[in-house]
Amino acid sequence: MNFKNIPPFRYILDIYRFFKQIQNKLAYIQQSLYFIENNDANAGRRFYYKQIISENHTAWYENFEKAVIISNIVKPKVVVDLGVDHGFSTFAFAYAGYGEVYGLDSFEGDIHAGHRDTYAHVIKTHERLKTEFKIANISFIKGYFEDTALSWDKKIDILHIDGLHTYEAVKGDFETWKKFFNEDTVVLFHDTISFKDTVGKFFSELEGYKYSFHDGCGLGVWSKSENSIRQIRYIYN
Ligand SMILES: C[S@@+](CC[C@H](N)C(=O)[O-])C[C@H]1O[C@@H](n2cnc3c(N)ncnc32)[C@H](O)[C@@H]1O
Repeated sequence: MNFKNIPPFRYILDIYRFFKQIQNKLAYIQQSLYFIENNDANAGRRFYYKQIISENHTAWYENFEKAVIISNIVKPKVVVDLGVDHGFSTFAFAYAGYGEVYGLDSFEGDIHAGHRDTYAHVIKTHERLKTEFKIANISFIKGYFEDTALSWDKKIDILHIDGLHTYEAVKGDFETWKKFFNEDTVVLFHDTISFKDTVGKFFSELEGYKYSFHDGCGLGVWSKSENSIRQIRYIYN
């Protein structure tokens, strides 16, 4: 016997679905308003911002709008970007204008990104964005992720993992920072496609709610709760 066909259960299920539909429609309206505002009136402004922050090549270029839209959904107070390099992802999150964005990097580079000191360049770009775009919500922290975590004391709403791309490093970053998650924390994994046997593998093994972007190098989005993932799925599916 399927209890879903018994009248009281069926009505409760129908009501539940009805409210879910309303919730989805509200999310859709919210996102549509965001697109109208940003894609039309601010398209030129956004393009100019992207030009400035992509003076150096970045594999993150096609994720700019995703970072803004995901921020728009989560409305984070704290964003932690593990892996700044020339700063594209950190500056993309900051453009959304929510909370404080922390860009963490040793600024030494690594075996995948290449060994280079990008700190001076990042600070120069940051100064320019402060002047030209009034961007005032970024803090850069120079050091190894694991050392910075030792004195970290804030809950994190969005965590972006884009440091070293070995399986052990990605797993280590997730495990190190998960003690700072709240119920709705959203974690982004860059390079789920270009590093499918390491980043992609770890992402696929995670339990929870997920959404995968398959363009570019691949971006995996994970959360313990369904809320943000449902909204992302609704916009992008
Ligand atoms: C792929 S790049 C980041 C790209 C950047 N998100 C973007 O938007 O272009 C990886 C960065 O992580 C940094 N990194 C790797 N492992 C690290 C660690 N354990 N601690 C601090 N920084 C690290 C490297 O210095 C490098 O700049």
